Formats: sequence, C-alpha cells, structure tokens
Amino acid sequence: MTTRRRFTLTQYLIEQRRRFPSASGDFNALLLDVALACKAIARTVAFGDLGSMLGQPAPEVTTSVNVQGEEQKKLDVISNEYFTQMTEWGGHLAGMASEEMDHPYQIPATMQRGKYMLVFDPLDGSSNIDVNVTVGSIFSVLRAPQDVIDSGRDVVEADFLQPGTQQLAAGYALYGPTTMLVLTVGNGVAGFTLDPNLGQFMLTHPNLQIPEDTHEFAINASNSRFWEAPVKRYVDECLAGKTGARGKDFNMRWIASMVAEAHRILMRGGIFMYPRDTKDAAKHGRLRLLYEANPVGMIIEQAGGRASTGREPVLTVKPTALHQRIGFVFGSKNEVERIERYHSEPGAYKDDSNPLFAERSLFRA
Ligand code: AHG
Ligand code: MN
Ligand code: MN
Repeated sequence: MTTRRRFTLTQYLIEQRRRFPSASGDFNALLLDVALACKAIARTVAFGDLGSMLGQPAPEVTTSVNVQGEEQKKLDVISNEYFTQMTEWGGHLAGMASEEMDHPYQIPATMQRGKYMLVFDPLDGSSNIDVNVTVGSIFSVLRAPQDVIDSGRDVVEADFLQPGTQQLAAGYALYGPTTMLVLTVGNGVAGFTLDPNLGQFMLTHPNLQIPEDTHEFAINASNSRFWEAPVKRYVDECLAGKTGARGKDFNMRWIASMVAEAHRILMRGGIFMYPRDTKDAAKHGRLRLLYEANPVGMIIEQAGGRASTGREPVLTVKPTALHQRIGFVFGSKNEVERIERYHSEPGAYKDDSNPLFAERSLFRA
C-alpha cells in the first residue's frame, strides 16, 4: 500500500506564512487554537446522546435564552466555552465576541492580551443537533484597533464593528459524516478533513472554486409570503424551470444549517438565500452579519463566488451592532448577480412589476 503524502493544517499555515517573512507566528498559533476548539466540539457532537450533551440546558443554567431571544441548547453553551477556553490563553487575542455572549468577552487579567479579535458562531444550525443532522462552527479573525493593542484595554462593541473586507481570516468547521475545516487566510480557500486516527486536519481540498453557474437553490420557502418582490421573482423563475424565463430546470435543497449549505455550494455550486423579508420589521434578515455572513462571505468570495445582501456586497456593509442581522445571498457568481439585478431594476419592489409573478406566482395565496 502506498501512502499519499498530505499536508497537515499546521504545514499549510507555515507555507502561507512564508509570504510574510516578518510575521510573528501569532496568527498561525491562534488558528491552530481555533482548530483545537473545533476538534473538541467535533468529539462532543460525535458522542450524541451518549454524552448527555443534547437538548436544553438544565433549568439551573441561567443562560438558556441568548441575546437574540433564541433558546440555547447545551451544545451551544459548551461549544462557546470550548472556543473561549482554547483560545484565550495563547496571548494572541485582545478579545472575542460570539453569538452566545451578549457582550464582548474579555481576556482574563491573568493572561496576556494580543492584537487579534476572534468572532464566532460556536454552533451553527443548532436546531439540527437533536436530529443528528450536520452542524458546524463559523469564525472570523479581525485585527484589534491600534489603541486596544497599545493600551491592552478591554474591548468594547465598537471595536468589532468592522466591515467584512477587514477580515484577516475566516473559516468554518463542519461536524457531518466527516469533520472538516474550511479556511481562508486571504489567499484562496483550503479544505481539511479530520483524520480521526491522527487527530489532525489534513489538506484534502486545496484551492476550492465555486462554479459560476448553477441550477440548485436553497431558501426556506415557508417564508415566501414575507419575501420582497425581487426574491419572489427569482424563485418563481427557478420553479418555472424549462417552461419559464430561465429555460432550465432547478433543484432545491434546505438543510437549515447555513454552514452545511455553504459547504455544499463550495463543493458543487449553488445559491443560498436568507433574504431580508417583512416577517419582523425589527430584523433585517435572519442571519447575523459579524459571525455568520461576513466569514462565510469571505470564504465564498475567495473561492470565486459572490456574497451579497441582495443589494450590495455583504463584505462592504459597515456594521452597526455586534448581533446585527442582515439579508444574505451567496453562491455561484452569475446567480447572485442576477438577484442583485432584480433588486436594482426600476419598480423592483412592486409585486406587479413583473408579469411573471403578478398573476401566477406559485407562492401566492
Ligand atoms: P444558529 O443555529 O447559529 O442560530 O443559526 C441557524 C441559522 C442558519 O444556520 C440556518 O440557515 C437558519 O438559521 C435556519 O433558519 P430556519 O429555521 O428559518 O430554516
Ligand atoms: Mn448560526
Ligand atoms: Mn449558533
């Protein structure tokens, strides 16, 4: 039997660092700490009910509803702790922010502080935990503002409100049939598969690229009555298939784990939409900008795809709050551009602007 020579994540990071001869190694060390947190979460997920980690936290745990008003599962809380505990000690971080923490997390006074900030969704798709469907973790690395680095002061919400274009690295781990880590450090996208024997992430998918065209879309159709007209138009055209304006049939998928949908799109193309809708006037979309849309957006764009709010590139949006929500559309470039075009056309927001869905919308009551 011949063994195939594969790079480990560590080797990949060393190789990437050679582009920056003066780099201290802090950045790589941070990413390896994040990878360790993901391995720990993967082990916990793999034990399922045997580890008593599924379901709701015990009543004595006071944080069972997060700042978003969403119910926290035990694994949400545990995964959040893995992230903070495995990354706070290294001296690379000035602070952190997470879906599961109302306010920024401070590096304890007994530990060194560094120049990076880590933002994460410790467990994405957590409604799927109890039914054994793929979940994942999403993370983003930002540089701390200079005065934070110089003074070592506590981080505040405003320090994190940087557009996605400022991200230094972004990635996600996927806890599915295999555990994977998909990462960009701003030089393309690489995918690693966890070798359970070695406990190492091995480079299995160098230089991932998303096909520009697709005939597969993902959207939660139960929200269709709340969609804006451009989204209705796009989906109607997909559903009309060969007989409609697009002249080709489309396939549909919905996993309800954005991280798993992003991965499918990286593997074979497609488009994902959780657009801004009219369901709740207080929320501009479902997904969170800083730790869901921005990191996934960076990965998608680094792989040649496109990531948008429907109206503009998501990475250029200036955040206004730590837990801000946003409409998010990403995937194969030509399809995302088509949706942006539908949003920008004159009269785009009037339901009767396009005869296609005025009379015969397949989603119309
Ligand atoms: P989280 O589990 O971190 O709260 O995120 C869940 C998100 C995302 O992963 C998924 O695409 C979406 O919520 C699912 O929403 P629906 O329940 O509306 O399908
Ligand atoms: Mn999430
Ligand atoms: Mn989550």
